[in-house]
Amino acid sequence: MLDTFGREVRMLRLAVTEACDLRCEYCMPQNGLPNEAMPMSGNELVAIAEAASKCGINKIRLTGGEPLLRPDIVDICRRLSHIEGIRTLCLTTNGTRLQALAGQLYAAGVKRVNLSLDSLNPERYARLTRCGNLADVLAGLEAAMAAGFERVKVNCVLIGGINDDEIADFVELTRHKPLEVRFIELMPMGECAAWPKKRFISAETVLERCPELTPIPGEGVAQRCRLPNAVGTVGLIRPMSRAFCGDCDRIRVTADGKLKPCLHSVEELDLRGLRGQALVRRMAEGIGDKPVSHHLNDTGTDTERRMSQIGG
Ligand code: 5AD
Ligand code: SF4
Repeated sequence: MLDTFGREVRMLRLAVTEACDLRCEYCMPQNGLPNEAMPMSGNELVAIAEAASKCGINKIRLTGGEPLLRPDIVDICRRLSHIEGIRTLCLTTNGTRLQALAGQLYAAGVKRVNLSLDSLNPERYARLTRCGNLADVLAGLEAAMAAGFERVKVNCVLIGGINDDEIADFVELTRHKPLEVRFIELMPMGECAAWPKKRFISAETVLERCPELTPIPGEGVAQRCRLPNAVGTVGLIRPMSRAFCGDCDRIRVTADGKLKPCLHSVEELDLRGLRGQALVRRMAEGIGDKPVSHHLNDTGTDTERRMSQIGG
């Protein structure tokens, strides 16, 4: 289905929980969220995915919080991947539980996995996430690469003065491993909204630090490049320095069932309690309402929600 500005909306980012077992400094308060919303049931998620598919959506990405904290996550994946019209089911995870679950998720129909990882240094990783164990996540990454997924991506949020000295190490991962490392510009929202300017660095830095990277055709919202003869690729996601709203093909549903036409807008449509045609109609209304762009660079984000509530 087309939105008002002629963009074909094909992808739904569906948050399945606000809970997370990590406390990344830029995302979560030290003690977690004060009032975690009641997540939707498996049946509610399936109803939303079915309605989305009737509106022309063919790709769903499960996000959170941390989706793998849900005890019924494999069952949810199995049900969503069988919905007619949903061709690609993907999942974004912090990887802490991926080693145990990668094979089951693949068998349940998950095609692609994105793993969030902001440091390859164990002490720094533990500090940044306030409690994470890097070894678990690296084991999860290996398990994902062995499980047979169509694509495995590593999402690294660039934080000036904190992890930008690791850019070359992350890029190096792509030389021998069949994965895409994606550098994401930190967006000033929630915990990091008032962080000093020096923490927000442009993804251009990646190209400056690694001049060997050569451009390859982009895909979706990412600018892509590759090291000579490398197995994997590098992607740059530049919400701040190169807004990609014109190519945005997605809508979002929060863990508590609110449809957000744009990540940064205050507009939300409540989907909870709706079924059948009424749900399809509300969803179509949300798609039609996508704003033309965000204005992160002038007035900042409009949403008061945190990333772990919206799902990135
Ligand atoms: N800016 C950019 N990316 C963010 N994420 C969480 N908060 C922010 C932010 N303020 C990322 C996570 C994860 C994805 C779901 O969103 O690191 O990779
Ligand atoms: Fe959890 Fe992801 Fe937020 Fe880190 S960035 S606290 S892994 S939701």
